[in-house]
Amino acid sequence: MPDLVVVANRLPVDLVTADDGSEHWQAAPGGLVTALAPALEGRRGAWVGWPGVPDVAPEPFSDDAVGPDVMLHPVPLGADEVAAHYEGAANATLWPLYHDVVVAPVYDRDWWEVHRRVNERFADAAAEVADEGATVWVQDYQLQLVPRMLRERRPDLRIGFFLHIPFPPVELFLQLPWRREVVEGLLGADLVGFHTPGGAANFRWLAQRLCDATIDDAPIGLREAPGEVRFEGRTTRVGAFPISIDSATFADRGADPATVDRAKEVRAELGDPEVLLLGVDRLDYTKGIDVRLRAFGELLDTGRLDPARTMLVQVATPSRERVEAYRRTRDEVDRTVGRINGDHGGLGRPAVHYLHRSLPPAELAALYLAADVALVTPVRDGMNLVAKEYVATRSDDDGALVLSEFTGAAEELTEAHLVNPHDLDGVAAAIEAAVAGRGTDEARRRMGALRAQVRENDVARWAAAFLTALDG
Ligand code: ADP
Ligand code: F6P
Repeated sequence: MPDLVVVANRLPVDLVTADDGSEHWQAAPGGLVTALAPALEGRRGAWVGWPGVPDVAPEPFSDDAVGPDVMLHPVPLGADEVAAHYEGAANATLWPLYHDVVVAPVYDRDWWEVHRRVNERFADAAAEVADEGATVWVQDYQLQLVPRMLRERRPDLRIGFFLHIPFPPVELFLQLPWRREVVEGLLGADLVGFHTPGGAANFRWLAQRLCDATIDDAPIGLREAPGEVRFEGRTTRVGAFPISIDSATFADRGADPATVDRAKEVRAELGDPEVLLLGVDRLDYTKGIDVRLRAFGELLDTGRLDPARTMLVQVATPSRERVEAYRRTRDEVDRTVGRINGDHGGLGRPAVHYLHRSLPPAELAALYLAADVALVTPVRDGMNLVAKEYVATRSDDDGALVLSEFTGAAEELTEAHLVNPHDLDGVAAAIEAAVAGRGTDEARRRMGALRAQVRENDVARWAAAFLTALDG
């Protein structure tokens, strides 16, 4: 029987149908899978999640993504449930609300009804899979109601919850019509984890304000000294556990001669630009892809960067494409790339190379190694693993990172060129400074410090800190 059950909206792999009608499992998008897959590898575990497409109910199976000892238990969702729970309540209500209301959240009662029912289905599935006294680790904003539902079904379990996205400022959270239900849902856990102490403190305060819980007022530490919330005769601890990546794997890939060769080849294929800038994201309005494109466009418009010598590669994984705000974002990015290329591209030499797709890990590593400057400019991001992957891959200590202050990563990667993504002049100036600093001792010192931070604080440390605190 599994000693650790992960419950997440998605399985680590999605069921994909190829053009010829054949089906296969493929790595699911996003940072949650990137982080949890190595944390589970080598453990006797189980992963409960949706298989990524509506109306399929595969039998439990295992996959290389997390190794042979982790059973994957699909939770089927109907097309209506995907629309109301996943595209609606999760990604048109909670996602924008938790990301500083960058677009207006939609509060729809019918969606929420379905969202509640789907959370119940996940709680049922977890209750069935978990052994007596097992540890169950529930993930992310789509499943905030599960901890309480699961505790009602299985009081013997040790239940943890981790939020992979930012927890919003209290005055924004208070907009949510179902705010008390969400806080009570989370209080079903023994430990609730956030990326930052600020997020944990916001949640603790809301537990008092909305549920009349008793709370302590001690400062919440990083990976230690969680706060305490007493509610309905139980104590829930709330702590800060900044997530990370499997740093050694990225460093090994970056040092691999095959990656080094491929990085050189990539630059040659791009026409040997003197300066290569890089963005890698899910295509999401929170990622600030428009911000970096506009800043880059202005630097070319004003002659501060030379389009004959500079190129930006933007790789964007398709994401949540049936949600209206994501469609608009895609259109905007298409338009902006078109404008910059129309103004500054040459024949066979665009200023922006835009790939609307996912790349395999080896190709991504080559791009990370090839790029002089990585641009990570979200208007809000819980952590942002791309920033960590980029620095971990730079086994040469070259490269520079332009990083938004509004990411969780900025609290740790303080040697990056930190920017306010709402200040276009500031973003442009930081890109210019990062480009100008290429190859200097100062740039190498900064990259060395960033790499040391990510090397020390890898995903194994994140998982161990959370699970140790959950055990304690
Ligand atoms: P989020 O979880 O919001 O998608 P993160 O930056 O934390 O954002 O994690 C994104 C993960 O998805 C990283 O592991 C990154 O390597 C991967 N990723 C993002 N865009 C691409 C892409 N175009 N091709 C391949 N992997 C990608
Ligand atoms: O970390 C945020 C997150 O929503 C994860 O929960 C998810 O795995 C990832 O981004 C990708 O999102 P989606 O599952 O909606 O494609």
